[in-house]
Amino acid sequence: MIEAKKALWLLSPRLLGLVTTMNKEGKVNAAPYSFIGPISINPPLCFVSVGKENKDTEAFARELKQFVINLVSEDFAQQAVNCEADLPRGENELQAFGLHMQASKKVVVPSVKEAPATVECSLNEVIDPKDSDHILLIGKVLCGTCKFMKNNKPDMDAMRLVMHVAGTHFRLVGKRIDLERRY
Ligand SMILES: Cc1cc2nc3c(=O)[nH]c(=O)nc-3n(C[C@H](O)[C@H](O)[C@H](O)COP(=O)(O)O)c2cc1C
Repeated sequence: MIEAKKALWLLSPRLLGLVTTMNKEGKVNAAPYSFIGPISINPPLCFVSVGKENKDTEAFARELKQFVINLVSEDFAQQAVNCEADLPRGENELQAFGLHMQASKKVVVPSVKEAPATVECSLNEVIDPKDSDHILLIGKVLCGTCKFMKNNKPDMDAMRLVMHVAGTHFRLVGKRIDLERRY
């Protein structure tokens, strides 16, 4: 048997996102998050699960009610992980670790230029699950971007997306397999 906390690791790997937010003074924050995922198709909703430790991501997302999930590819993964550094509030992690901002399509929060794909969200709701040490930022997805499209779909091989297992253990998104769906 695997103890409860370690059993959470079995729910991995999870896509790694470098989440960007901005506060009312225009200061940009970026931090890596792997407790992220889709919730609903209509309307399109997603979540970022944020530890209740006074994180800038929560504070900034509450201020401007927007965030961007920038998916992380292998070529800038170490820099994205470095962005977990707890820099003085408002100091820009992207600049500190050699990454770049670019204008997003539908939100004022900038995206990460190096990201192969982004998901732009308005903050729909903040949920505090009972007895949880994390809160859920629920995002209404406004649009996405993807630099690697093939047959009108994201090209998962070309993107070389990084996933988080636990601690310092990461994986790349693996090879495609096709299965029949009969039911
Ligand atoms: C690979 C990786 C994944 C992480 N995933 C999460 C996560 O899903 N939720 C979370 O609260 N913190 C996560 N963290 C920790 C945050 O990135 C870290 O606490 C960071 O300092 C938060 O920054 P902020 O205060 O700017 O939001 C992760 C860190 C790394 C390196």
